[in-house]
Amino acid sequence: MEQWKDLLCQQAKIAREHAYCPYSHFAVGAALLCEDGKIYTGCNIESAAYSPSICAERTAFAKAVSEGEKNFTAIAIVGGEQGDACKGECPPCGVCRQVMMEFCDPETFLVLLATENNEYKEYTLSKLLPFGFSPGNLR
Ligand code: THU
Repeated sequence: MEQWKDLLCQQAKIAREHAYCPYSHFAVGAALLCEDGKIYTGCNIESAAYSPSICAERTAFAKAVSEGEKNFTAIAIVGGEQGDACKGECPPCGVCRQVMMEFCDPETFLVLLATENNEYKEYTLSKLLPFGFSPGNLR
């Protein structure tokens, strides 16, 4: 295990504590590492109207991009029943994968899916979103 990956997973777990999920009771945290070393965290934020809800990953991207960040190395994600430890992996939804595709190189950007006991599994974005549509397709 590389130390920066452990730290990123820890940040995602801390961010998960802020999840606002009174409808699903499924709490998610994410920590996004920028190429300049900064980390932006996010949690899921639900809405009584349901559709305005936002995932933890996109919260982290929105925070980072709105602060001027455009280059990213990795994201750690952790999710599970609110109040419980995260036994299983929480794979990002399709919308979040597409947002990652907007800003990240699918061959190098790493998605770390963290679980209990500081364990994680690691995937490239291209593994999670093969043959994805990206800004390059509009050129
Ligand atoms: N959710 C995330 O925040 N990220 C994921 O990767 C999967 C799902 C949220 C959305 C919703 O608030 C709750 O988890 C249940 O779907």
